[in-house]
Amino acid sequence: MLHTLHRLSALIISLYVLSHITNHLVALSGIEAHISFMQSFRQIYRTQIIEPLLLACALFQVGSGITFIVKRWGQRRGFFDHAQAVSGGYLAFFLMFHISAVMYGRLVQGLDTNFFFAAAGLQPQAYPLFFAPYYTLAVAAFFTHLACGLRWIFREKFSTAALDRSAGAVMAVGLVIGLTIVTTFSGTYYLVPLPEEYCLTAC
Ligand code: HEM
Repeated sequence: MLHTLHRLSALIISLYVLSHITNHLVALSGIEAHISFMQSFRQIYRTQIIEPLLLACALFQVGSGITFIVKRWGQRRGFFDHAQAVSGGYLAFFLMFHISAVMYGRLVQGLDTNFFFAAAGLQPQAYPLFFAPYYTLAVAAFFTHLACGLRWIFREKFSTAALDRSAGAVMAVGLVIGLTIVTTFSGTYYLVPLPEEYCLTAC
């Protein structure tokens, strides 16, 4: 029962996260493009029904995921079985910090948690040594977790070699996407002129 609910909640979260990651990739076309995509996308996920549902799913996912890690501690065998637990553990940590930071920024600091909110920590004068791996690993962990889950779902339909190759490819794509987003937000491809209210250190 808990596994079924974990998969159902994963489906809801994945729909959001895949669009959220697409939103961040749009930043390759510029800050305006990112903000305008987010403004349209918010019309869906910031509604009174979707946002509480999404946040409840994230909370449930963290709780159920940690339960699975604890229950199967020491019993996992093979690379993908371990990768699933490690990526899930990181996602639990990331989701708690990330959502708390976004809600704090929005409700306590009164900020528009847009492109600049995410880019602030990545600027050279801020804390890139923390935020670059923090965000890159989050995207890589999401794709790794998805790859391991799909590999298990399709275990009887394809050969182990085909499943391993596909899962490995999805994990590699996740890492490349994570690096692309982080380098974009860091200001590698264009200047990121942070408005004063977003600066974590002197701007
Ligand atoms: C490079 C990676 C990421 C960056 C820069 C980033 C940035 C952001 C920003 C700026 C927001 C605020 C959105 C808004 O104000 O409408 C947000 C919200 C959120 N992010 Fe991320 N995110 C990243 C990756 C992820 C990943 C991998 C996940 C999940 C596994 C995730 C889950 C969420 C959730 C659940 C919210 C809250 C949505 C809401 O209710 O407003 N994010 N993120």
